[in-house]
Amino acid sequence: MPKPPKNKTPELNIFPGNWTIKNEQMFKAFDLSFAQHWNPASFPWDQLDAKNFDPKERIAQAYWMSKLALFEKSGIGAFGFGMVRAAELNLEDPTKKMLASITYDECRHDEVCRRACNKLCPNWPYGYKPQSDFEQKALRNIEALYEEGRRYWEGFKGAWDYLTPELLFAGFFFAEIGAETIFNAMRQTSKLEIYRQSFQNITRDETRHLVATMALLRAMAQEFTEEQKLTVTRQMKQGFIFLSPLLYQHQATFWHLPSDFDQVDQEVEEIARNAGLGVLTMEEKVRYWRQAIEKKRGEIESMGVKVPAIPELGVEGVEVQVKKNETIATSF
Ligand SMILES: [Fe+2]
Ligand SMILES: [Fe+2]
Repeated sequence: MPKPPKNKTPELNIFPGNWTIKNEQMFKAFDLSFAQHWNPASFPWDQLDAKNFDPKERIAQAYWMSKLALFEKSGIGAFGFGMVRAAELNLEDPTKKMLASITYDECRHDEVCRRACNKLCPNWPYGYKPQSDFEQKALRNIEALYEEGRRYWEGFKGAWDYLTPELLFAGFFFAEIGAETIFNAMRQTSKLEIYRQSFQNITRDETRHLVATMALLRAMAQEFTEEQKLTVTRQMKQGFIFLSPLLYQHQATFWHLPSDFDQVDQEVEEIARNAGLGVLTMEEKVRYWRQAIEKKRGEIESMGVKVPAIPELGVEGVEVQVKKNETIATSF
């Protein structure tokens, strides 16, 4: 039989698999997911009964939850895709399983969003008929975001054709910093028990995701050239741009949104905050996000990966020019 040519890319197949544990930190993070299991169905959802709020308050909370859901869905897609690819590449066992576990967690977070919208405002956003100008603008914002979500996903899938899987896996950590930050802050600022319980549990998940994706970065970065490390820096900057509609204000380098998107967004978020959701003010978003990045800076730099400059947050680092419409190869 003819021998396969040398340097041929390995055949992508999930079998025979392995039960090898090389990355102990990864195994610990995965193992913890069993002990930290939680069930959103057991939360006091009746607190979100529509009769407890006026129409604007209901829409505003559903608005924020449906905005969050875009990012949770990106997590389901990105980690789910990564999970299959990791299995096909026969990465060590806990890495595959951790990616599966994160995918499941992101489904659970999206389920919190779905339940909240369903209580507050049935059919929001997918089948909702707006009743006022306020509602129409809020819904338009969400629809515009979801439309851009399509562009994100096309780009993310395409990135596997030109970036190595190691680089893509290495880029997963940055958004987890953002995710952990926002939920950790909101579990303290929200005034309703339903939100506090939800955010407390989501924060615990995100802490685990951060540990795991940092372990993934560490494992991958060992073999990286300087140029590949700079690509990770670029992915961090892309992560900032991707998460900007949720954690800052939308960055037009990637997001094509209506000209009054931010104005509507801020107005609606303020109503949601006052209704008890605990949405952060712009000043809080900037401060908490900056602090979270600074907290991880030492660990990231110890792997030889530099932090990008993000002047919007007051984060110093390497100048990275992200081009207009550049593919976002990272996730939430
Ligand atoms: Fe999440
Ligand atoms: Fe996450």
